[in-house]
Amino acid sequence: MPSVFKTAWYRALLTVKKQIVMQPQPRPVVYVGAESSHRLCDSLAQFGLRKVLVVTDMPLVAAHIPQPLISRIESHGITTVVYDEVMPDPTIGVVDNGLSLLRRESCDGVLAIGGGSVIDAAKVIALAAANGFQAKDCVGLKKSKRLRYRVCGATTAGTGSEVTIAAVISDDLTHEKLIVADPRIIPTAAALDPVISKTLPPAITAATGMDALTHAIESYTNTWDTPECLHYGRLATRLILQNLERACLHGDDLEAREAMALASYYAGLAFSTCLVGYVHAFSHQLGTRYGTPHGLANAVVLPHVLKLLKGACSMRLAELAVYCNLGEEQESADVLAQKLIDRIVELSHTVDIPNTVESLREVDFDAIIARALKEGSGYPVPRFIDYRECKDILRRLI
Ligand SMILES: [Fe+2]
Repeated sequence: MPSVFKTAWYRALLTVKKQIVMQPQPRPVVYVGAESSHRLCDSLAQFGLRKVLVVTDMPLVAAHIPQPLISRIESHGITTVVYDEVMPDPTIGVVDNGLSLLRRESCDGVLAIGGGSVIDAAKVIALAAANGFQAKDCVGLKKSKRLRYRVCGATTAGTGSEVTIAAVISDDLTHEKLIVADPRIIPTAAALDPVISKTLPPAITAATGMDALTHAIESYTNTWDTPECLHYGRLATRLILQNLERACLHGDDLEAREAMALASYYAGLAFSTCLVGYVHAFSHQLGTRYGTPHGLANAVVLPHVLKLLKGACSMRLAELAVYCNLGEEQESADVLAQKLIDRIVELSHTVDIPNTVESLREVDFDAIIARALKEGSGYPVPRFIDYRECKDILRRLI
């Protein structure tokens, strides 16, 4: 365990952070169900927009997903400009290119069509444009003065970015993850449309679904809790345990896809206030150092962190296990918590999540641990962990 003084210092800093994060946040208008993205496009006309920057990515363009939505927007007399160069873990350069296009074309709104990376890029483009910034100027907590551009998102499900105050971009050279946290980037409206996500391959469906599960469980087990956070965390966890396998095995199962989109959204609501924890702290390092996809890294790390922290949050894990029908209330918290962890391991196996991180090297352990411990100390985790415990987790990932 870290020293008593260090723990007290981390908790004191978290108390300050809590005052900022726990402030009431705006929420998007949410459209749900098949073709709900069309209703989202119709709503753009009500905002009085004239020219919209459509932010998306090449795989979705290849699957002909954005075109019907663009036609729908244009049917309302709104002009569109398409920026389709967003890639996973968008860099500052990618965001700045979209920002230049928005400025050159004098767009007055932004619509994201895609997953977390696309929505994150769109959010930062809009925030930077409204404040005369470049992307790097947005990095940090509440850097903006105003938001003039409306951002809306039709999402493929996963990160919950359609509802959160955060966007993650990365440094072009070091690939370090840079977090933009600002209530002004919460989208105005969002569509949880299963039709958009039905073309997602099983591996991406599995990784993004496990990312959402990690959001739900880390926020649920953290020491900050609000009734809303607990409510949405429970709902998200149950929906994912019930539907992720179906969504992976049968991509065109719209019912399962819709459930996963809702679950990601609920998990986003939960972690918007109660944050995440050590799983994300490790996963960000694996992404930065080896390019491991975020959801995949979370999925691999999640069971190990839960096993380590089980003693500190067994009641919360037990509540989730009972809510997800994995056990009976009269069983001990320890037994129920283990049942939940076992179910997560089983689900990971079913959706082909590997047990290890292929590129992980022991020589990098010290650097990864130093950064993960620093990031973890900024979350209201069930308990703080130490160097030896981190090393033990990393050894299990090789
Ligand atoms: Fe995440």
